[in-house]
Amino acid sequence: MGMKHTRQLFGDDIARSEITPRAFFENRRRVLRAAGALTATGLIGVNGEAFATMTSPDAKGQKLAATTNTKFVALDKVTPFKDITSYNNFYEFGTDKADPAHNAHTLRPRPWKISVEGEIKNAKVYDIDEIVKLAPLEERIYRLRCVEGWSMVIPWIGIPLSEIIKRAQPTGNAKYVQFITLADPSQMPGLSDPILDWPYSEGLRMDEAMNPLALLTVGLYGEVLPNQNGAPVRIVVPWKYGFKSAKSLVKIRFVEQQPKTSWSEYAPKEYGFYSNVNPNVDHPRWSQATERRIGEDGFFTPKRKTLMFNGYGDQVASLYRGMDLKANF
Ligand code: MTE
Repeated sequence: MGMKHTRQLFGDDIARSEITPRAFFENRRRVLRAAGALTATGLIGVNGEAFATMTSPDAKGQKLAATTNTKFVALDKVTPFKDITSYNNFYEFGTDKADPAHNAHTLRPRPWKISVEGEIKNAKVYDIDEIVKLAPLEERIYRLRCVEGWSMVIPWIGIPLSEIIKRAQPTGNAKYVQFITLADPSQMPGLSDPILDWPYSEGLRMDEAMNPLALLTVGLYGEVLPNQNGAPVRIVVPWKYGFKSAKSLVKIRFVEQQPKTSWSEYAPKEYGFYSNVNPNVDHPRWSQATERRIGEDGFFTPKRKTLMFNGYGDQVASLYRGMDLKANF
């Protein structure tokens, strides 16, 4: 997202295609899925229960069953698996979109621990295999809008972030949640580049973290998370720019003060703490009014309009009532 990359990206920005027979097919598949007729894997949870087992140390490509939560299915065509897994931002593996898919094989997603700590009554270090059993795994199809002007539609698998927060029993001092991700130079070649102040860290206000849309994510497209998408566990916050969705989490910390975050430390005038998707607030160096859908919109396709809160206003606008969203960008 630094200067040189954004320049490159904004040269090739594009947008909305007409409905094609392919789009129609994808749409029909989505409707069937929403009706519970199939999941991304074609597997259905037993009595609504997910039956995930993630015991293999090398979880690569392992199937992960989940039940589609029809309340959270975006009505857009799902982005192809190939694009979701080969066009990534994961600076710990390099700054090019193709770098994570090439380099992230050195990440070891098993064994993996996540420490839940800070202003809570129940501090606990979870094993990744405990996390996936905290609640039935759900498949949810979310739009992801990157601050750089592109977007995707991704069938994630996870549990509500609120499930782990409830168990932590936050004290009255817990006003924010901080998300800290792995920074291990032996697994992550990109750490030798001091472009960001590692470890990558992000944060949410407590009520944002408790919103039902916020997903603690362990899979996509019916499989465990590929390394380049943040294995073995990440957050997904679909109404905010993609950089809020921190990958490969090792710590969830409850704090009283608004935490520092990697991108706002890097460029405070460009990346705010809230970072809600907002077509009315430009990035200082480019407009945020439109976007290009990866894998779908071509170079000559007219741009598609970016939606306020990425289209999730009904669920989240109330969190920001009375706030000046230009000042709190
Ligand atoms: N998490 C970490 N640890 N490191 C990163 O560089 N990039 C962010 C976010 N999470 C990033 C990260 C950005 S800019 C985006 S757009 C999304 O991850 C991309 O997620 P995806 O590759 O699964 O689409």
